[in-house]
Amino acid sequence: MNTTIKDCRIIPLDRHHSDRQGDLSVVEGLNGIPFPIRRIYYLYDIPGGATRGGHAHKNLYQILVAASGSFTVVLDDGTHRQSVTLNQPDQALLIVPGIWRELENFSSGSVCLCIASEKYDESDYLRDYDNFLLFRNHTITNMSSND
Ligand code: TYD
Repeated sequence: MNTTIKDCRIIPLDRHHSDRQGDLSVVEGLNGIPFPIRRIYYLYDIPGGATRGGHAHKNLYQILVAASGSFTVVLDDGTHRQSVTLNQPDQALLIVPGIWRELENFSSGSVCLCIASEKYDESDYLRDYDNFLLFRNHTITNMSSND
């Protein structure tokens, strides 16, 4: 796995204005989204001080949107960490495979919209940080041996 936190990026979404009656943003498959959309879920009713995430994925691509309110996503590729605050519903954060993520500092009433490239598959999760580091090193070793 040779992804890094630099592969994670903000994707601006179109914002459609409807003459003072609210706005609308669209996440459309393959139109700026670099994977087929197979699943959508959302986090809500998150109590103050909660931390969500705390895992990485082996193959899953994901997009997170602060559909309401704000929260901070801490991205970690095993070498570098970076915090990204999401607080606008027209800004989507792409998270590539092999990146540990933690979601924290949820504002009251916030909603985190999650859009994923695959259906739910527990075997794609790395939920233990040491296993995550092993997974990355293991894959790097494999890649080197193919050089
Ligand atoms: P989990 O991925 O641990 O949530 P988070 O990373 O946001 O803290 O998922 C919480 C629970 O929901 C867990 O029991 C698995 C279940 N779940 C599904 O059944 N389907 C899904 O698509 C997701 C994301 C979670």
